[in-house]
Amino acid sequence: MSQKDQYAVIGNPVEHSKSPWIHAKFAEQTGEAIEYGRILGPLDGFTREVERFIAAGGRGMNVTVPFKLEAHALADSLSPRAAAAGAVNTLSFGPDGVRGDNTDGVGLVRDIEANLGVSLKGARILLLGAGGAARGVVLPVFDRAPAALTIVNRTAAKALQLVDQFASNAAESGVRFAGGGAESAAAERYDVVINATAGSLDAALPDCDDRAFGAGTLAYDMMYGAQPTVFMQHAAKLGARAADGLGMLVEQAAESFFIWRGVRPDGGAVLRELRRTLAAHV
Ligand code: ATR
Repeated sequence: MSQKDQYAVIGNPVEHSKSPWIHAKFAEQTGEAIEYGRILGPLDGFTREVERFIAAGGRGMNVTVPFKLEAHALADSLSPRAAAAGAVNTLSFGPDGVRGDNTDGVGLVRDIEANLGVSLKGARILLLGAGGAARGVVLPVFDRAPAALTIVNRTAAKALQLVDQFASNAAESGVRFAGGGAESAAAERYDVVINATAGSLDAALPDCDDRAFGAGTLAYDMMYGAQPTVFMQHAAKLGARAADGLGMLVEQAAESFFIWRGVRPDGGAVLRELRRTLAAHV
């Protein structure tokens, strides 16, 4: 048995996950003695696979599609942000059992603020989508004290549900908070527009007033790919600065690493190296 502490990402599919590469870079950078692998979770056997990993001495796991809800159900205790998100992407195994956390929202916020240099303080933000990905970012965004957050979703009722769920948090943070269908967005430019819909997977552009985008808008797609997404291309045509979600991937990993090891890696440096590596392989 190796001396190094064992971690892994579990998903299905998981073959193309960049998490092992990212965590190996973090380990190298910080001198932490960890090994990080990948596990293909059977669709009907997530819990069994996690238990097997724990029994073999595993210390923690990242959880990706489609197991984030199952990980939430499996955890013995949850961080407040994982409870609010209703989903878990980080599991830690210790004497007190399985602890579930969610680092996706913090990863997004850190990428926008630290890597892209856009402060959310006082910003007017439009969030497209009201599924699991959108739900996970609401509280971390409130923590940055924006002026306003509007959630727009194809199915208006789901956006309204999120507004209901987080209304008291918005009031506490002093954030103007609203949502619904496409008509809920103001017909004017936003500082930040975040695409949290699954639309980019099938090259679909979520419904959104063109006036939301302009010079001075950061249009952020949580997805990433070899080419800019349709959302990014559309936003760029309207004069916005467009960014993909690769930095969010690196920063959510950095936060997981911090939870497990108590050491914060430099996500920006690893992101730059990852972009260079991907560009070289296109
Ligand atoms: P995730 O965990 O990735 O958020 P999800 O919970 O299934 O996945 O949510 C998917 C989100 O993408 C929803 O907001 C969905 O809109 P609906 O609630 O109306 O279904 C949105 N979505 C998916 N495909 C879309 C498309 N082609 N155009 C606009 N929105 C889309």
